[in-house]
Amino acid sequence: MPQDMEIDPEVLSIIQRAKRVTILTGAGVSAESGVATFRSYKEETKESLWSQYDPQKMASIEGFLKNPNRVWQWYQWRRSELKSKKPNDAHKAIAKWQQSKDQRVTLITQNVDGLHQAGGSKDVIELHGNIWSNHCLQCRAEYKGNTDGVEDVIECPKCGGQVRPSVVWFGEALPEKAWRDAESASYSCDVFLSVGTSSQVYPAAGLAALAKSQGATVIEVNPEPTESSVVDYFIVGRAGEVLINILNT
Ligand code: APR
Repeated sequence: MPQDMEIDPEVLSIIQRAKRVTILTGAGVSAESGVATFRSYKEETKESLWSQYDPQKMASIEGFLKNPNRVWQWYQWRRSELKSKKPNDAHKAIAKWQQSKDQRVTLITQNVDGLHQAGGSKDVIELHGNIWSNHCLQCRAEYKGNTDGVEDVIECPKCGGQVRPSVVWFGEALPEKAWRDAESASYSCDVFLSVGTSSQVYPAAGLAALAKSQGATVIEVNPEPTESSVVDYFIVGRAGEVLINILNT
């Protein structure tokens, strides 16, 4: 969809009339920064991660316990990949939108890359944790040491346990406060905007239905529309150009 894309005026006015907008983002929002997504659209996202790596081996507690160094090294590789990535137009547009005086804009993300914060967003609700943080698997103490270039799993200085990346792995519960905040932001919005997510991973993928159950209009931004039956309007396009368009219109 070209830069001078047209968003359906009816959809635009629903967005602009909203007092409370809740945005849920996924890997697609970081795609334009050159960050690989997990399951999708190839143009600028290279090969999606889960088409190259087994999520059960790399992103589960079982996988970590079976081979901690392999998992640790994979996250070190992802960190080294992310180091050079910059926030893109989508991140910056959301940050600008959050400063709106007329609308309360709440940002929930499934992304662990920290690019929303780098793009200027405040109060980001991180549902799946943050790849730049680490904590002990056993005593849960945060590990603040420098991990650059560390290839083997670090021993927790407090209890001798194994230090792991502070991201949510498959089968793990989401951070309690983040989930509670995400639920209440979904319950209490007029527009729920789902941007750059395949809406396949729960419970995050259930937030749109929560919002809809409270009367919100659910709008999806994705170059490859999902089949989600909860969505009222699909804006078929890339996050950067769509969000800039919403803000500039
Ligand atoms: N703009 C908007 N959307 C895009 C863009 C873009 N430029 N490029 C790709 N997309 C869309 C794809 O079409 C796809 O629907 O982004 C979506 C990315 O989907 P996934 O790769 O499945 O990522 P996500 O939905 O965030 O995954 C959810 O799954 O693997 C776990 O914990 C991980 O947080 C992640 C969760």
